Amino acid sequence: MTKIILKDIDDLNTLEVYEANGGFSALKKVLKEMKADEVIEEVKKSGLRGRGGACFPTGLKWSFMPKVTDKPKFLCCNGDESEPGSFKDREIFERNPYQFLEGTLIACYAMGIKTAYIYIRGEYYRWINIIEECINQLYKKGYIGKNVAGSSFSTDIYIHKGAGAYICGEESALMSSIEGQRGYPRVKPPFPAQFGLWGYPTTINNIETITNIPEIINRGSKWFASVGEPKHPGTLLFGISGHINKPGVYELETGTPLMTIINEYCGGVWRGKSLKAVIPGGSSVPPLTRDEALKAKMDSESLKEFNSAIGTAGIIVMDQDTDLLEVLTRITYFYFHESCGQCTPCREGCGWMLRILRRISEGKGRMSDLDLLISVADNIEGNTICALGDAAAWPVKWTIRKFRGEFESKIQKEEIELPNINKVHSIRHTDYYT
Ligand SMILES: Cc1cc2nc3c(=O)[nH]c(=O)nc-3n(C[C@H](O)[C@H](O)[C@H](O)COP(=O)(O)O)c2cc1C
Repeated sequence: MTKIILKDIDDLNTLEVYEANGGFSALKKVLKEMKADEVIEEVKKSGLRGRGGACFPTGLKWSFMPKVTDKPKFLCCNGDESEPGSFKDREIFERNPYQFLEGTLIACYAMGIKTAYIYIRGEYYRWINIIEECINQLYKKGYIGKNVAGSSFSTDIYIHKGAGAYICGEESALMSSIEGQRGYPRVKPPFPAQFGLWGYPTTINNIETITNIPEIINRGSKWFASVGEPKHPGTLLFGISGHINKPGVYELETGTPLMTIINEYCGGVWRGKSLKAVIPGGSSVPPLTRDEALKAKMDSESLKEFNSAIGTAGIIVMDQDTDLLEVLTRITYFYFHESCGQCTPCREGCGWMLRILRRISEGKGRMSDLDLLISVADNIEGNTICALGDAAAWPVKWTIRKFRGEFESKIQKEEIELPNINKVHSIRHTDYYT
């Protein structure tokens, strides 16, 4: 199996070992031999797509940054990683931090950026300390700061600690947070490449995305494009949790069959049980049924066939005894709690979905609740400033669609009486949902 990020080298997280294994050769190569545009072209040709969830082509995103401008430009490396089921960026900070920082420097060179921020969720103090120490070392060695590696290119890298909010991983909320404001997403357009941090051109990339860059430069875009699935090339860091014998983070090529990951790499479903469902890409993506999981390949294109998505490649395995109503209620509580409250459909809709799900859990559900839940989800989806609304709607909509029988069996009564509006002087719309 090809390894691009989590290489099998002892102590790769020390600068000496990283350099002894070819570390910073890609940075030196671009500084000496490549123009900024050529680096962007190489990343475009590699086919690298963002690893933060939306799979946007990285080279294309970089090409949106204005080339000639007297304004400052910024890079934000997104290490907020707060979605349930996602825990792979932390592994990079721990096991190969210098490759990530080398990628950050190359990205800055390619886009003519002199300031990069690494945004890390505040509670992740262990990884903040690691990266802080690595940055200090690189300043001392002349890889960061004035005249990077003896070249005429200069750039600074800062860590920004988040205060622990899932919404701050959304790129525009992340910028608001760095600016010292409340982590509210902003309406797009304008897109960050035009109007980003403090109104200046900005690119936001996920940590894993950036960590791929040195290997693309060292081994060439053609090689990278040949790894895994052609439309979504490279490897992915699959973070596997749930009812599995060997949970953890596994680097595997895109397009690896899901059951190969579960059975061959992770030792199968735990306690000899059978599989009921799998969430393939973090809690926001639609789950797969057992039959779908048996056929699924793990890349962005293949999962579309099952109305799901690769997301952050955080795989959550659920065995035959899993109560999907409980799972869905817990996931919905997360989005309800993390909604920033700016958009009415998300702020109110998440609460409505949660209350309906809880009502069903308490044995007071109605059959019509299932369509009501789908209807509320449909009215959230696509109607909010950022994709947190979609992230809350998808699991509700698709878990019910795909596992309707299980939800129906939980509902004991077909209908309960709606309040008699003739007897009630004032009735709030939400009374129907409580
Ligand atoms: C609610 C929400 C939370 C997000 N959290 C993260 C995150 O923690 N890390 C991340 O890289 N992207 C996150 N994203 C996606 C980012 O908005 C953005 O697409 C990504 O950082 C771009 O990097 P990429 O192109 O390298 O994938 C989130 C999106 C939403 C809507």
